[in-house]
Amino acid sequence: MLNAYQQKQRWKYSLIAFAIVIVCGSLFYTNYLVKNIARSERTRAEVWALSMKQIISSDDNDFLPYVFAVRDSLTVPAIVVDEENNITAWKGLDSTKTYYKLPEEIKGNKGPKYDPGYFKAELEIMKSQHAPIKMKMPSIGGDKPGYSYIYYKDSFLLTQLKYFPYVQLSVIAIFLLLAYSVFSSSRRSEQDQVWVGLAKETAHQLGTPISSLLAWIELIKDKFNAEDDPLLAEMGNDVQRLEVVADRFSKIGSKPQLEPYPVYDVVKDYVDYFRIRVSNKINFEVHGDQHLIAGLNKPLFDWVIENLLKNAVNAIEDTGSIIVEISGSKTKKQVYIDVIDSGKGIPRSKFATVFQPGYTTRKRGWGLGLSLTKRMVENYHDGQIFVRDSELGKGTIFRIILKSLNND
Ligand SMILES: Nc1ncnc2c1ncn2[C@@H]1O[C@H](COP(=O)(O)OP(=O)(O)OP(=O)(O)O)[C@@H](O)[C@H]1O
Ligand SMILES: [Mg+2]
Repeated sequence: MLNAYQQKQRWKYSLIAFAIVIVCGSLFYTNYLVKNIARSERTRAEVWALSMKQIISSDDNDFLPYVFAVRDSLTVPAIVVDEENNITAWKGLDSTKTYYKLPEEIKGNKGPKYDPGYFKAELEIMKSQHAPIKMKMPSIGGDKPGYSYIYYKDSFLLTQLKYFPYVQLSVIAIFLLLAYSVFSSSRRSEQDQVWVGLAKETAHQLGTPISSLLAWIELIKDKFNAEDDPLLAEMGNDVQRLEVVADRFSKIGSKPQLEPYPVYDVVKDYVDYFRIRVSNKINFEVHGDQHLIAGLNKPLFDWVIENLLKNAVNAIEDTGSIIVEISGSKTKKQVYIDVIDSGKGIPRSKFATVFQPGYTTRKRGWGLGLSLTKRMVENYHDGQIFVRDSELGKGTIFRIILKSLNND
């Protein structure tokens, strides 16, 4: 069976694959359209040139209007250049620029003239886009016919079509990103509500039976005169453990109070409590600076250390060591808690993934431990947690950073 993380990954990859298919399909189809239109535009340019030729050389006046009609119906921007590089004709260009009026003062020179700068620029664009169409043209003056070169450029429509898929896909991508961020943030706050509510409710419901159990134990001790009975003592321990669990849930259900604690002592106490409950083939050590103070919520911080220690134990196959090292930076006013194990290690590509809910490599794991831990460190202690380093087959270092409350 797939776990939540694997299912999410599978969805993610199928969606990405689907998106790639859509993008490629859309680009491929537009490319096909662009090619077809480009071909028909070249034909238009050729037919236009032919009709020009016809107009110049024809003396059949009945036929001419048709040729004009054909010529004017073709809408590819083009410029005709003769063998001496003089512009002899054009069409489809910006009519406000294909001529300009000379200043009024220059009398006798009123006729419209074309703007050479504009033509030059247009010609450059055309030359860069397509090879010219070479055609033998009768010269207007009636002297010897020569070759003309018809340069043309993509119509506005074709240019738009070339950019259209990119514009369209970017708009869709922006829209999807916006939608995704809105949905995922609202989903996250929904999840928060559910989980905070559930934690509160659990703590509340556990409260009554736990206090009854404590009372029953006292009653049994009285009734059977069994003050020192080891079985009852064990039972008492378990009920205390239940109290700790209920306390954790109640703390997580509301923003907890942080109090200054010596970090070393808190960690050492918890490691001592923990070590006797796991295989004695694993060696536990706590080292480091004993004077560092940080704001902690003890039940939740114990839970954080517990999760890291449990994972470290799970990562160690048989024998190994787990070292917790506490250090600090005076300049940064930070406390560092490094949990170092000699376990199987985490591949570099999974350093961030291990904190995602549902990611697990254990058969019976839920993949919740580290995501909870991260929440407790970041949301409730204003700290950071990350995989500081890990090497496959050698071990892993998890680091927690908290704000130091030391004044020196
Ligand atoms: N110290 C470690 N060494 C190697 N791998 C680790 C270590 N800590 C975590 N991991 C990897 O990260 C995964 C997720 O850890 P996490 O604590 O979130 O879930 P879990 O331990 O699998 O299940 P549970 O919900 O019971 O904690 C683990 O399955 C393991 O693959
Ligand atoms: Mg775990």
